[in-house]
Amino acid sequence: SKKATISSIKKSKGVKPLVMITAYDALFAKLFQESVDMILVGDSLNMSFAGKSDTISATLDQMIYHTNAVCAGAPESFVVCDMPFGTYSTKEKALENAIKVFQSSQADCVKIEGGADKAEIIKHLTDNGIAVCGHIGLLPQSVRSEGGYKIKGKNEEDKRSLIADAKAVEAAGAFCMVIEGTKADVAKVVAEAVSIPVIGIGAGKDVDGQVLVFSDMLGLFEAFTPKFVKKYLDGAALVKGAVATYAKEVTARTFPAEEHTY
Ligand code: KIV
Ligand code: NA
Repeated sequence: SKKATISSIKKSKGVKPLVMITAYDALFAKLFQESVDMILVGDSLNMSFAGKSDTISATLDQMIYHTNAVCAGAPESFVVCDMPFGTYSTKEKALENAIKVFQSSQADCVKIEGGADKAEIIKHLTDNGIAVCGHIGLLPQSVRSEGGYKIKGKNEEDKRSLIADAKAVEAAGAFCMVIEGTKADVAKVVAEAVSIPVIGIGAGKDVDGQVLVFSDMLGLFEAFTPKFVKKYLDGAALVKGAVATYAKEVTARTFPAEEHTY
């Protein structure tokens, strides 16, 4: 499919749901590109790729390395690079780091976590030629300060602040945003409150698109499976089975066979 652009993504609102998936390397990005509108190089790579327990220790250099791999594998895809924890704590720092992402990769935009509290930072980036995808609701980079992953939108006050966050992110110049871990009825109202696409993960069906972490949806990540993940493939079982068969055949000297031999 034709490469999505900022304007095609904005125009999709109310027309068709956007399809986003994460990828961290060229191999998988290439396999995904024909079916999706956007590829997210999420800092979730710190967990599924690097094996850490949360996203906090992901670095900018790590994000750039993986973004380059994804862009090389899927040159026709719209690529979103997550700004990791600590790299956008002030607007000056945010711009300096986002410029580094843009100058050292082909990322089409950056994504930063936060709502009204990050509006000034988002505006500084968009004012300086950096396209921004927002991220509101459950914010994985706040896992330690919040003492865990807490579903959002459970009361009226939370609902009002999520709507205010979405409006602030839009007003600051973001062209779309992710909403994570939010009650579906609240996510629906949030999506209706803004004119840019709101892409959900664990936020129900009544939003403007969906995003999943690829290693979750392919069943490759075994540590835990959140409720919002649908496993479209039993990846871990398939991979383990294949490698076990390989090991068995090597042990039995039935691999390599005649047709694999020079
Ligand atoms: O890092 C990531 O994969 C994300 C998604 C969960 C939206 O930010
Ligand atoms: Na992320």
